[in-house]
Amino acid sequence: MKHYWIIIALISIFKSYGQTHSSREHICLNFDWQFKAGEPESKTDWKTIQLPHDASIGGIFSKDNSTTANGWLPYGKGTYRKKFICPENKKDKLVFIQFDGVYRNAKVWINGKLLGTQLNGYLGFEYDLSANIKFGQENWIEVFYDNTKQGTSRWYTGEGIYRDVWLKYVNKLSIPLYGTYITTPKVTQKLADVVVETEIRNRYSESKNVFLITEIFDKHGIVQSVSKAAAPVPADEVYTFHQEIELHNPLLWDTEEPNLYKAKSTVIIENKTVDEYETSFGVREIKFSSERGLLLNGKKVIAVGGNLHHDLGCLGSAALERGYERRLQLLKNMGCNSVRLSHNPHSPLLLDLCDKMGILIIDEAYDKWTSQYYGESMSFMEGSIKDIETFVKRDRNHPSIYVWSVGNEVDSQFGKFDAKFETQADNPDYGVSRFRYLKSLVKKYDPSRYVTAAFFPSRNAGWFVEWEHWKDHDKFLQSTPPPMAFYMDVVSWNYTENLFEIDHKNYPQMTFIATETATNIRFGNRKISWFEIDTSYVAGHYYWSASDYLGEANWPTKTWARAFYDLSDEQTSIGYMYQSFYSKKPMVHIMVYEQDTFLLNRWNRVYNNDRWCWYPSADHWNWEKFKTVTLSTFTNCEEVELFINEKSQGRKLLKDFKDSIVSWQVSFEKGKIKAVGINRGKSVCEHELKTAQSPYKIVLEPDRDMIQANGLDLSYIKVKIVDKNGVTVPDKDLLINFSVKGGDFAGSCNGDTYSDESYLSDKRSTYHGKCLLVVRSQQQESEILVTAKAKGLEDGKCLIKSVSQK
Ligand code: GAL
Repeated sequence: MKHYWIIIALISIFKSYGQTHSSREHICLNFDWQFKAGEPESKTDWKTIQLPHDASIGGIFSKDNSTTANGWLPYGKGTYRKKFICPENKKDKLVFIQFDGVYRNAKVWINGKLLGTQLNGYLGFEYDLSANIKFGQENWIEVFYDNTKQGTSRWYTGEGIYRDVWLKYVNKLSIPLYGTYITTPKVTQKLADVVVETEIRNRYSESKNVFLITEIFDKHGIVQSVSKAAAPVPADEVYTFHQEIELHNPLLWDTEEPNLYKAKSTVIIENKTVDEYETSFGVREIKFSSERGLLLNGKKVIAVGGNLHHDLGCLGSAALERGYERRLQLLKNMGCNSVRLSHNPHSPLLLDLCDKMGILIIDEAYDKWTSQYYGESMSFMEGSIKDIETFVKRDRNHPSIYVWSVGNEVDSQFGKFDAKFETQADNPDYGVSRFRYLKSLVKKYDPSRYVTAAFFPSRNAGWFVEWEHWKDHDKFLQSTPPPMAFYMDVVSWNYTENLFEIDHKNYPQMTFIATETATNIRFGNRKISWFEIDTSYVAGHYYWSASDYLGEANWPTKTWARAFYDLSDEQTSIGYMYQSFYSKKPMVHIMVYEQDTFLLNRWNRVYNNDRWCWYPSADHWNWEKFKTVTLSTFTNCEEVELFINEKSQGRKLLKDFKDSIVSWQVSFEKGKIKAVGINRGKSVCEHELKTAQSPYKIVLEPDRDMIQANGLDLSYIKVKIVDKNGVTVPDKDLLINFSVKGGDFAGSCNGDTYSDESYLSDKRSTYHGKCLLVVRSQQQESEILVTAKAKGLEDGKCLIKSVSQK
């Protein structure tokens, strides 16, 4: 009888929940901040800035005051402040501020009261402002960061509040940050089991009877399943609801069709909706098989792509969604279906995009463990407890993540340890116990995925590297995987994919990912990495790196400069070669080998080293100084036919070429060179280059001429010097002066890693006739007029509309 009344009460509550008003508000707090370099007390002038903001990217390159890691840009400190009003009618709410990331060592104050310090610059954090807020009046939030400690990273991090900030109003009983966890343990075409765990935090001083409704919406916004639950939640406690929900005829998430669902959690107490919380998720099954590699919904998929660091070239680390979207689109265009997010947690915006675009992710927590560790007063092991919890809880609902990585080339592999806090005795096993510990932390928050860490290319226990054994290579081939390998769910190797075959035979239980690969053409007896792996059982293949990034560059170079795309988003010859391996769409692309001594020397300073040695090449047809030229036609077609001024230079079969690089030596003749890709005797694609005449005008090509007037959207404008026929002039580079009206200048760059020009300068030289300009919308609708001028050339102009609703 008692049960009967409870059920009646529940039904009436569940019926009425929809009638109440929205109970949670997330307000983007990115605009109209003030910033000054230095400490809060410094006398420097404040200037108004918008977030996400990278305070270092506009700095001057300095060999003496910076490091290779930071791309020679400044390491600094800075203070931000912002005024905001909390309306009187929010008095009974809790007020939180959430930062998606501040690099690094951030202190946050509200109305002069210190809320805390966040050391990890890659993870989000929040503070409860409620006790110190003045409702109906002005409140000041102040943030100080300190990035002066060098060595916290081996690449450019950027600095300041470089990700989004949110002001949140929630009720005393609500779902906490990262409070839902959704998995799909059973997936068939007909039925999926969706398991939803929902944390409810009760900040009242008495227990509350809580009703939870979880609705699953499909991508059209139609409810597909509903599940209800009720429980008393004691005062000051977090209670976790567990719901198992059946979803009929689910639309699965995969790389071709990234279908997403939304779970809406409605929390009700005392007949009122007190929280509504949405979680995006995908229905998919990830499995690894040592015989077949990665199985996505039971289908074999080889995850292919490159490694990404978090900076966005000339935008620095300012985490702007459109920047990531464009980057991922470029990678998809060349056939990538996956990225490894090296080597720390990236922006949540990027993860959302990967979900939407069907891009598989290796999500990584750390580089190097103790030697890159940022903790000053805390050991790595202690810091990792909170880090891993935040990292996994933040990211675990993304269907795109197929494996967690808890480290890259970790020092423990060689028996190293955190000397300030521990001794060798704490680390007797070359990282095994540390790895197992980190893995157990990950599994505590997400038992559903596999855990790995990427190995440095060394074998056995300790240091045993291939490049010290070219002469007795057999000895190297007889080596064993490092001890940690036997505790990994999937074994990730950097630059050691040539041993997968041997390990696969010796340790048939192992599954492999080639987490980093290089060009290898002059590296001992190695082959181009794609030909070293057997894709029938290897799960993934990643090149280092996908896009060029700032840092890891010897002075006077500023960037890594050996990626699929250069800093200005031009695809490189390595990018075209990998497109020919990764892409299923027929392609052919001509790349001509550089002969100019000056350019060759510059090239060799970057490329002529061990495993990243590569052919100096450029895609233009202005080689007047040379009689003969050597070129490659990268293709995935069976055959290529080459024409110079419509005259055939012959046909070549892809299978006849070592490394699948079809190369040619031809006499240079001005005019046009064309390569045609042929399958089964039929032309299926082509690429041509034309000789340019003298420079005539500047052309501006925006990737989008309509963007959103939200102060965050971007238009990427390709800037070209062209001749009278519109052909890009590759060898008469000039300084271009830009003016941007009606929008904000966000950055500029070219593909020249030696460039000394500031990324925030409105003057930029072209490189091989091209450069890139990025403009950012303002918060009101406008017409953005971009003008480019250079001596002796007709101006380039373009108009971009910034509109409220695209
Ligand atoms: C790897 C490392 C990467 C990057 C790369 C190029 O060993 O994991 O982070 O440094 O080398 O130097």
